[in-house]
Amino acid sequence: MRGKFIVIEGLDGSGKGTQISLLAEHLSARGPVHVTCEPTKYATGGLIRDALSGITKRTPSELAGLFLADRIAHCENPADGIRILINRGVNVVCDRYYYSSLAYQGADIGLDWLLDANVACPAILKPDICIFLDVSADVADSRIESGRVSREIFEDRDTIERVRKQYFEVFKRLPDHKISVINAARSPVDVSRDVICEVDKLF
Ligand code: TYD
Repeated sequence: MRGKFIVIEGLDGSGKGTQISLLAEHLSARGPVHVTCEPTKYATGGLIRDALSGITKRTPSELAGLFLADRIAHCENPADGIRILINRGVNVVCDRYYYSSLAYQGADIGLDWLLDANVACPAILKPDICIFLDVSADVADSRIESGRVSREIFEDRDTIERVRKQYFEVFKRLPDHKISVINAARSPVDVSRDVICEVDKLF
């Protein structure tokens, strides 16, 4: 049977990492699970990380193009790409996907071409579900402040607020996607209970 493709989205500081670990542990009772993320560990992912940390300057369009190439590699890699894993029956949990491009780059360069390039691209798989871990910009900002030595380019308070609004614009533009918004300003255990409940409905 085909594996499920589960995407976890949220602002920086929304607790994706913790929730992904808890979800992967829960899913492992059903069979093999692969946890992955974007930007990826492939060469394109490295170029993106240099841009996010500010080492290399990239325009928003350039960055959107890099994320697109990275996502295609992520889906199509013949060894451990998402498509091959799902076809083998592995459940894939992915930390960020095209919803992040639409929210982060879309806020700067407009949604239309990004929607076309990402969502209409035949090489890029449509997730079975996108779980959005929702926290206010203030909660995200204070979690980043307490957990980091330095901030990446999208981690200032105004950008966080703008990106959060943009996520909700994006979700309105994708009525045929299964998107579940979960209040993530609660204890990890409470959030995880809701995440698991949504994901279990896929099986
Ligand atoms: P990362 O360091 O992986 O942290 P986290 O996901 O835990 O917040 O940051 C990835 C950053 O890249 C994050 O600020 C969102 C941004 N991003 C985009 O701008 N576009 C994209 O398509 C993706 C996947 C991520």
